[in-house]
Amino acid sequence: MATCRLVVFDTTLRDGEQAPGFSLRIDEKIRLALQLEALGVDVIEAGFPIASDDDAEAVRRVALAIGRPIVAALARCAPHDIDRAAWSLAPARRPRIHTFIATSDLHLERKLRMSRGAALEAAVAGVVRARGYTDDVQFSAEDATRSDPDYLCRVIEAVISAGATTINLPDTVGYCTPDEVAEFFRSVIGRVPNADRAVFSTHCHDDLGLAVANSLAALGAGARQVECTINGIGERAGNASLEEVIMATRVRADRLPFETGVETGGLYASSQLLSALTGEAVQSNKAIVGRNAFAHEAGIHQDGMLKDRRTYEIMRPEDVGVPRTTLVLGKHSGRHAVQKRCEQLGYMLSRQDLDRVYRRMTALADTKKHIVDDDLDAIVAEECDHPRRAVREPAGGQEAGYGFGV
Ligand code: KIV
Ligand code: ZN
Repeated sequence: MATCRLVVFDTTLRDGEQAPGFSLRIDEKIRLALQLEALGVDVIEAGFPIASDDDAEAVRRVALAIGRPIVAALARCAPHDIDRAAWSLAPARRPRIHTFIATSDLHLERKLRMSRGAALEAAVAGVVRARGYTDDVQFSAEDATRSDPDYLCRVIEAVISAGATTINLPDTVGYCTPDEVAEFFRSVIGRVPNADRAVFSTHCHDDLGLAVANSLAALGAGARQVECTINGIGERAGNASLEEVIMATRVRADRLPFETGVETGGLYASSQLLSALTGEAVQSNKAIVGRNAFAHEAGIHQDGMLKDRRTYEIMRPEDVGVPRTTLVLGKHSGRHAVQKRCEQLGYMLSRQDLDRVYRRMTALADTKKHIVDDDLDAIVAEECDHPRRAVREPAGGQEAGYGFGV
């Protein structure tokens, strides 16, 4: 199956940063932007310059710091927004102005109080003005997936004629289902006569927990740019998570034949950096980068992992930069995992010793969430007369629980 190269558009510093609890100082934005560059994303959306002087300055400083990726700045389809974005992007080696206007009747009537005709005119004027500054202009039809398809197609055709080179069709409120998104992209790309002159882009929100599935559906239907954020942060429930989209295309290349420039070994470090800078912890069961993503406590799972990691892991932790798999000793752990950890601690236990240690460990685990090495040392000392001791292996190094590699 032929693979095609996707444009990975990271909007952690714009859609992500505008969510409650995720604001960053300028120096922190630069640090994160440099991390995103090292990670291999193609486009870094650095902010919304008209929102504040600080935002404008942050975009300017990111533009100065970044070498390879395109640096994008958001602007409404209004002259002063676009001029401000252009000012911020002036130092960028590869600037992109990203201009947007809503196209759904709900947004036009209730929010913008604008007619369809006026919005179309503003969209075209915005793109023309942006093209006066750069050849790389992205147009987004906000609330595209809830827009009237005929009107949406007219707007898209007009903005491509006006010079837009990327057309982003956001599922702004995370309302769609994957089959619907696929149908939507296929239909729009098929109907817009000059669709071949632009790259189509997907930008999905996670209100129903479908942002990644919807993004992948859009890619399957012809979108070639995917917009996403580290840890999936963004407005409300967030955006499609970059690490999930990337690893889905990597692990399931048989179904998702897309290549990206992302160096997957940097995913965990990027997630950790964002979390450290914002002070917002990553949910422990978060796919790919959560603390439990490569941790196993259930006895059957630990036993399977010790025999062959592929029984319960579909990717290797090192592929995403996670130091190692952890087998957490707790009340669900089995004898095999306890034996393995005792061996790693240097104890060669007889069968009877192991039985006693295992019983004590499970009793202790009823009162304590995680069993650490000191607990196991104490149990062995009390339960076993002469536990033969070999060289002790270093502990797993996980801050929470009891980690050891397999
Ligand atoms: O969700 C959305 O519609 C957006 C646009 C501004 C691209 O973030
Ligand atoms: Zn958004």
